Amino acid sequence: MLGQKKILITRNVPDAVINRARATYQTTLNNDDEPYGADQMIELAQGKDAILCTLTNDMSRTVIERLPNSICAIATFSVGYEHIDLEAARERGIIVTNTPGVLTEATADVALLLILGASRRAREGAEMIAGDWSGWTPTQLMGLSMQTKRLGILGMGDIGRACAVRARAFGMEIHYHNRTRLSPELEEGATYHGSAEELLKVSDFLSLHCPLSPDTKYFLNEERIALLPPNPVVINTSRGPVIDDEALIAALKSGRVAAAGLDVFDGEPKLNPGYLNCKNAFLLPHLGSATIETRNAMGFTALDNLDAVFSGEEPPNKLV
Ligand code: DGY
Repeated sequence: MLGQKKILITRNVPDAVINRARATYQTTLNNDDEPYGADQMIELAQGKDAILCTLTNDMSRTVIERLPNSICAIATFSVGYEHIDLEAARERGIIVTNTPGVLTEATADVALLLILGASRRAREGAEMIAGDWSGWTPTQLMGLSMQTKRLGILGMGDIGRACAVRARAFGMEIHYHNRTRLSPELEEGATYHGSAEELLKVSDFLSLHCPLSPDTKYFLNEERIALLPPNPVVINTSRGPVIDDEALIAALKSGRVAAAGLDVFDGEPKLNPGYLNCKNAFLLPHLGSATIETRNAMGFTALDNLDAVFSGEEPPNKLV
């Protein structure tokens, strides 16, 4: 009986998601919405059957090993799952699920927002209009055009491809690198590069869409920034640690990189303060999936996964 199952929801998810969870399960909510520390998570997990967590929760091996035996599933309210030690969960027989698919379009929208905001100097424009704008001039805040520029997409999964669809509509030429080359139907005319370094060499704009892994951590470092063409624009909607912040900040300050549009940060919510002094850094607070429709869909997908687990079925988005 699903109604007898007890779930811990670790952050304040949208009302529609809470209402559905309450209709099905005995739920414990986090009304303060402060991320739990390890001890609090372990304490609150006592007697629960599952945890619906988010990317702000540390579900590392040390936490997973201390979870009570009653926990049989962890459903993360995210597509990213680098905050969960999958191997530790597998060893304990805990099912882990995520929410792919439902945030593709919203995240690609924000990638385009960042491309536009960075290349058209939106941060400086917003600061100027809030300050002492003295009127239009022929040379005021001249940015970079997107039309005919090459957009290099690193990681041509669902979100990378949705970004390509939007960028094509703005007249950009799409290039990409992916672990495996896509079929011609999925490529839709995009040019494949066999290595990330070859992609960097042609990326007038570079948009990062790869998951965070030991291979991609600090991928965009000083050496790789040097491969980019002159005046590049760097966009990141994947995970902050894919970029070596000190290297990108130095490049933004020197002008080696014309502008950056960033929605995710290493160590967020604390971002490297160097970005705040770079007027050519257009920054957003991890808003990629932040639409009402998308956040509801993420919650419903997490609940679909739990419903399947407790009905003895294979959850649609099982990671382990
Ligand atoms: C995810 O689901 O991993 C996203 O980063 C949330 O916006």
